[in-house]
Amino acid sequence: MILVTGGAGFIGANFVLDWLSASDEPVLNLDKLTYAGNPENLAALQGDARHVFVQGDIGDAALLPQLLAQHQPRAVVNFAAESHVDRSIHGPEDFIQTNVVGTTRLLQSVRAYWQGLGDAQRAAFRFLHVSTDEVYGSLGPGDEPNSPYSASKAASDHLVRAWHHTYGLPVLTTNCSNNYGPYHFPEKLIPLMIVNALAGKPLPVYGDGQQIRDWLYVADHCSAIRRVLQAGRVGEVYNVGGWNEKPNLEIVHTVCALLDELRPRADGQSYRSQISFVKDRPGHDRRYAIDARKIEQELGWRPTETFDTGIRKTVQWYLAHPDWVAHVQSGAYRDWVAKQYVG
Ligand code: NAD
Ligand code: TYD
Repeated sequence: MILVTGGAGFIGANFVLDWLSASDEPVLNLDKLTYAGNPENLAALQGDARHVFVQGDIGDAALLPQLLAQHQPRAVVNFAAESHVDRSIHGPEDFIQTNVVGTTRLLQSVRAYWQGLGDAQRAAFRFLHVSTDEVYGSLGPGDEPNSPYSASKAASDHLVRAWHHTYGLPVLTTNCSNNYGPYHFPEKLIPLMIVNALAGKPLPVYGDGQQIRDWLYVADHCSAIRRVLQAGRVGEVYNVGGWNEKPNLEIVHTVCALLDELRPRADGQSYRSQISFVKDRPGHDRRYAIDARKIEQELGWRPTETFDTGIRKTVQWYLAHPDWVAHVQSGAYRDWVAKQYVG
């Protein structure tokens, strides 16, 4: 059994689905079901005894010890976080609460559980913390995390590291670039552009659209995490990236071109005509990129998707799942969830 936190969110749900398609080792999935958590992402696992879903907070110091004692996981993979930069600018407190306080409490609960394990299990145990390239800042000389989101994630990375150095907890950290793919909440760049384009709405490009991100297809991130969990050296940090640095405007043009091909507008115009340049995000980081040579050279991991193959799959997924989009946008999935999953 492994404990996955945040497994109803974008990457967490992809990870749980991927894990259970590749192995029979059960997953205990702990998720608070914030606006970003959607158990409908896990509908394919309904009735599957290998998946145990619990609605709860990583910072719940009463729930965690009980869950850990009951299910005896051999590893924790920590996805749970507040994850959207724009939301962190408007309301940073939730980010501190989950990403900093929540991670600390999770570390404390896991440490107590880990210390109580027998020798062999204690040695084999792993706590894998999933983090972001945004903690490195805007890649100027000596840059630091700049947004409330990236500052809170950097804090959590330091805490995870400290629990290793101070208490010996066997931790691993991955810092990954921007993910994209199925189940991505349509507040982030790529799904927002697809969904707005299809709805005939403006495609808001911040500033000049020349900010650069590195993009990784979510299934490749999942395989990287599996590989680090399996073979990563305790205490090490692994950068995960797609070797796909692109300016935002180019991403938006690519999405428009794919939609023009796969779902042309009735009036024959390109979706590009919906692009609207809007006021820039405050403190907007100009460039993120990742050097993923360490995970390649040490652990033999490489992404399998190119940006061209991954973005095509992504656009096709959104075209094939209008109900999912409608549900996450309306909030109706919460009622659906309440009936299906959460007792
Ligand atoms: P997401 O916002 O889609 O999902 C986060 C999940 O965590 C949701 O299901 C939410 O309900 C849950 N959650 C939030 N607070 C919680 C709490 N206190 N207790 C339990 N569950 C809680 O995020 P995502 O894009 O899937 O990102 C997952 C992780 O990967 C995050 O830690 C993020 O920092 C990291 N990351 C994301 C990206 C990216 O491009 N999306 C890139 C690198 C790293
Ligand atoms: P986002 O998907 O929010 O991820 P992050 O901020 O974590 O990198 O944004 C990706 C890039 O796209 C970022 O440079 C901001 C930009 N962006 C827009 O130009 N318009 C939008 O509507 C959004 C959501 C993002």
